[in-house]
Amino acid sequence: MCGIVGYIGCKKASPILINGLLKLEYRGYDSAGIATIENDKICCIKNKGRVKELQNSKDINTLNGNIGIAHTRWATHGKPSSTNAHPHLDSHKNFAVVHNGIIENHNELKKFLLDAGYTFSSETDTEVIPNLIDYYYSKEDVADKERFLKAVNKATLDLKGSFAIAVISKLEKDKIIIARKDSPLVLGVKDDEKYIASDIPAILEYTNDIYILKDGDIAEVTQNDVVFYDKNLEKVRRELESITWDAKASDKGNFEDFMMKEIHEQPEAIRETIGIRITDNKPCDFSDINITKEYLSEISKIYIVACGTAMHVGVAVKPIFEKLTNIPVEVDIASEFRYREPLINENTLIICISQSGETADTIAALKNAKENYAKTIAITNVTGSSITREADFTLYTHAGPEIAVASTKAYTSQIVLLTMLAMHFSETLDLHKDEIIQNLKSEMMELPSKVNIILENSDEIKAFAKKIYKEKDLFFVGRGIDYAAAMEASLKLKEISYIHSDSYQSGELKHGPIALIEDDVTVVGILTDRRLLDKSISNLQEVITRGAKTFIITNQDIDKKIFPNIFNIPKVHPFLSPTLSIIPLQLLAYYVAKEKGLDVDKPRNLAKSVTVE
Ligand code: F6R
Repeated sequence: MCGIVGYIGCKKASPILINGLLKLEYRGYDSAGIATIENDKICCIKNKGRVKELQNSKDINTLNGNIGIAHTRWATHGKPSSTNAHPHLDSHKNFAVVHNGIIENHNELKKFLLDAGYTFSSETDTEVIPNLIDYYYSKEDVADKERFLKAVNKATLDLKGSFAIAVISKLEKDKIIIARKDSPLVLGVKDDEKYIASDIPAILEYTNDIYILKDGDIAEVTQNDVVFYDKNLEKVRRELESITWDAKASDKGNFEDFMMKEIHEQPEAIRETIGIRITDNKPCDFSDINITKEYLSEISKIYIVACGTAMHVGVAVKPIFEKLTNIPVEVDIASEFRYREPLINENTLIICISQSGETADTIAALKNAKENYAKTIAITNVTGSSITREADFTLYTHAGPEIAVASTKAYTSQIVLLTMLAMHFSETLDLHKDEIIQNLKSEMMELPSKVNIILENSDEIKAFAKKIYKEKDLFFVGRGIDYAAAMEASLKLKEISYIHSDSYQSGELKHGPIALIEDDVTVVGILTDRRLLDKSISNLQEVITRGAKTFIITNQDIDKKIFPNIFNIPKVHPFLSPTLSIIPLQLLAYYVAKEKGLDVDKPRNLAKSVTVE
């Protein structure tokens, strides 16, 4: 999705802004732009395409000002083009705005502004914002020191929808006004320099001291000061947070791509996520959220709600929650859940999973649930993200920044965290599932080294990828908990290699999909549950009979004569197998995409965090 960067300080702004945009490329975008104040006017350069093109444009060297804003756009209203790219200026060229989000009432506002004599050059919803600001600015008292702030505030009060904005003006050249509603925005401070960004990694290289704006906040940012206000322009205090991620965590290190780096960071991410929650013979430590027995005893149903990969985590942990807590669990896609009026009440617990904590549908689903009195827990990887402000309780994975669009380490960390949460619920409810919980705890501690074993054998996966990368269709099948890995594997392959694939519960094949099986179609089978092994094997034999070739991910003893392509993963408790079985399949998607010469970190049409509906 779109990215925002802003800078005010003693240095030349443009290199800092471009550097920030490069750090935000992972969010996905189709055009980029920058505006700085040069002498008495706003200079704006924008183009369709990559930030690198902006960086290499000859005009970029003409930008010397020490205050500016910049943006990467992911088209919503109006096609990708340099005209539609941000920053947008008002028709008098007094103000420049970068904006993330969607202004739902832009047509109505545009009509009002056209009647007031303003003109428009783009097809975007954003262009109403600088024009509205100019309109209100012209109505304020010329002697008022807060004229700029007041004009931006009045404009934001007219906006319906979501926004994070940063605004500069040639009429007040010493400040940036920023504001947010339902779209993230952060402000980093370092002495007499201030950095603005939609995502922390964009500015982490400069400072770890960061304010995370709350919904409805508006702030006046000058070189030496920051003042926060609420929407009534009453001053509010915001706490400075010290972010522990280091800048290196958002660099590629020795890896060719972020995705490969993040796949290899999984042992560490899992270890960090386990943290101190599991220690010898003690109940899981969730003292950070203090969920009581009374709270849990009231729950008669759990919904796990999320999108994409995070939703697949729900599918993977549903059987664990049901087994350990005796509470029925339903897994739902957030964009469906929010509109389908699910049956929820004060006895329902909604667990929303979101790596970014900014996914619009997941946040809306959580808000809807709260309005219907449900209890809510957010699982996220990003400190202070929007979802954390809505949920009753927040639990963090500690995967570190995930930059590649395709989620890998967030997925495995989320499964680990939720498995521990299920154990914690069971222990808090005194359900006496001691034996299974003890097994899970000790096996969980071994997960990081088992992931490493798989990573050490990645050449086998690379070799298989070379055999199949030209294929047009692939199938992933599994039963029970292996189906979760099949779904996730299929999504990974689709999103980064652009090969069509489907996932099925193995037993479903003969109810339709087997009609698609013909000579040389590849079917990837995931077989980790001993109880279901024979059934899964016979399902796979049915596809072999119809000409398919198979690739098997397993920790069971499988006949090599029937299945010549087998990738072995370490043995593990069946409940923990999704964390291991997905690793070779992440690698498979990666190597197939690389064989095809594709950009694995920034797949086409996709954005890292989907902050609009
Ligand atoms: C796939 C992927 C997406 C996200 C989904 C939810 O690799 O990354 O499917 O999982 O957009 O994002 P979050 O977890 O940030 O809510």
